[in-house]
Amino acid sequence: MRRRQHVNPLGLGLSRRRAQAAEIPAGRPLEIELGCADAQFLFERAQRHPDRFYVGIDIRHQLIDDVNRRAAAEARPVLGLFGHANLHLESMFAAGRASRVFVNFPDPWFKRRHRKRRMLDRDLACSIHTILEPGGELLLQTDVWAIALDALAVLDGLDDLYINAAGPWSFWKGPNPFHARSWREQHCEGAGLPIWRLLYRSA
Ligand SMILES: C[S@@+](CC[C@H](N)C(=O)[O-])C[C@H]1O[C@@H](n2cnc3c(N)ncnc32)[C@H](O)[C@@H]1O
Repeated sequence: MRRRQHVNPLGLGLSRRRAQAAEIPAGRPLEIELGCADAQFLFERAQRHPDRFYVGIDIRHQLIDDVNRRAAAEARPVLGLFGHANLHLESMFAAGRASRVFVNFPDPWFKRRHRKRRMLDRDLACSIHTILEPGGELLLQTDVWAIALDALAVLDGLDDLYINAAGPWSFWKGPNPFHARSWREQHCEGAGLPIWRLLYRSA
């Protein structure tokens, strides 16, 4: 499938669009991927743990439609929702509702002048903390060193909100602890690219 690699999250009038409301079955642990694209990661999680519920958020409607078509065809507890992680997260989910949040390979925006388009910043880290239950987990993975370093600085800098599961100022050393692989993760592993992972628990 041909994919546009990056969509400007500050463009397309995205800030004026409303996020879709999330209808999430009560009583089931909730896992959320921000910037899910095809949500391959969540489909693999759902196959392994069908008792949980999975929501993927993306700013590209077409991808979200594809996610929901696949979920229906395969009868998986996966829901795709249009939403802008940096603008909509706290309006989409009740405080403390999520048991896990995944940020898998966010768009890198290499150029200095594009840096403000990067997904994980201090505000988003605080919003993620708000929707996570106490002890809930946040995984960030990337193959871009600059993104990994920025995320480490943001998240370890919020040591009143997050505990680094690998120890302070450290990357997660093992493989993906959640036994699922996103589309980008599969590509990186196939191409032998390095992957940096950060795993935090909500304080
Ligand atoms: C590089 S792709 C990675 C997709 C997937 N997570 C993976 O690992 O294969 C990044 C995705 O994040 C989406 N995205 C970028 N900024 C976003 C934002 N602020 N909120 C929600 N989705 C966003 C893009 O549309 C794109 O689908």
